[in-house]
Amino acid sequence: MQRWFVNAHADLNQSTVQAAGDFLKQGKLVAFPTETVYGLGADAWNEDAVSRVFKAKGRPADNPLIVHIADKEQLDSLLPSDYQVTDIEQRLIDAFWPGPLTLIFPAGRDVAASVHPNSDTIAVRMPSHPVAQAVIRASGCPIAAPSANTSSKPSPTTADAVIQDLGDVIDGLVDGGETTIGVESTVLLVESERAIILRPGGVTQEMIAEIIDIPVVYDAHLVDLDAHPISPGMKYRHYAPNARVHVWWGDAEEIYTAMLELLAGDEEDQVNEPIRPAIIAPADFVSRFEFPVHKDVIASLDAPDYEVQLAHQLYKLLRHFDAHGVSDILVHGVNPAHGMGTAVMNRLQRAAEGRIFRV
Ligand code: TXA
Ligand code: MG
Repeated sequence: MQRWFVNAHADLNQSTVQAAGDFLKQGKLVAFPTETVYGLGADAWNEDAVSRVFKAKGRPADNPLIVHIADKEQLDSLLPSDYQVTDIEQRLIDAFWPGPLTLIFPAGRDVAASVHPNSDTIAVRMPSHPVAQAVIRASGCPIAAPSANTSSKPSPTTADAVIQDLGDVIDGLVDGGETTIGVESTVLLVESERAIILRPGGVTQEMIAEIIDIPVVYDAHLVDLDAHPISPGMKYRHYAPNARVHVWWGDAEEIYTAMLELLAGDEEDQVNEPIRPAIIAPADFVSRFEFPVHKDVIASLDAPDYEVQLAHQLYKLLRHFDAHGVSDILVHGVNPAHGMGTAVMNRLQRAAEGRIFRV
């Protein structure tokens, strides 16, 4: 695997960016940073390259990929030739592209079929990360790119996380440092009467509702765990580290009490298998209470922007504590009803497999 280091703040017209673009043009698989998470890119016109993406990730073949573009003008090449972008779509594009909003459109004929299996729609986004834009532009083609992790693992927010999962099976990696947002883009399906958030992410419901005048709702599965998701990817177990994840949100004292109870554990269990815990919580919570664990396994994140920090660091911390060999990760959650809380609690809910409680 070829690894290129690119500094987003330096001159991006470097030969390294062009080398990565050339790899993509030749049908090779190249991972690169976006503002959300690292993506594993392939030429979206190239059926062979796209099918290798599925193989590299161990991704179920029915889970469609997002196509990434570097310029708004590139969108037309992905849509049916007679398709007119609607007024609402245009407003969303003007407000949020480039950025972490993925929109669903009817698919044009030239896009590789495996990008959008069993569906005549495609998901498109224009990332704001300068390295992502430069690499896509250098390739000269739209880039199909899922998150650059092994399926069901936490998405990678660093180049090292990409190497950990995919180092042996990809051709290139553009290392542009840590990603900023840390959770994936919002996936939005726009209908004539309403817009449906299929996956909550970097652009929040409130931000979308400010731009368009039709209701912005969540796909039913995001509020009712028994409902079937519209987005195929949302049905898979995801974002899961090896350790058990436990999440509480609500009253701080109650969260602390619940954490202590879990740390004390059931006596019999402790004899058989003592837990090796880690804690993720806001700095003020960590300084207010005493925890009977070593400080190395406490991730104390800066409040008051805790939900933004949690989004930024969650996947990295899950991977870090897994590498540390912990058995249980105790997370101070956030209110899922607004802002980045919705996206981060959605990821935590799926990592926690039901161990998520309001207290
Ligand atoms: O932030 C992101 O979106 C990152 C970076 C790399 O751009 N990409 C990413 O891709 O998260 P992936 O493949 O891990 O997730 C794509 C999600 C899946 O849940 C998939 O089912 C959904 O988007 N999706 C893709 N095409 C779709 C379509 N035509 N209709 C409905 N959902 C779609
Ligand atoms: Mg993914």
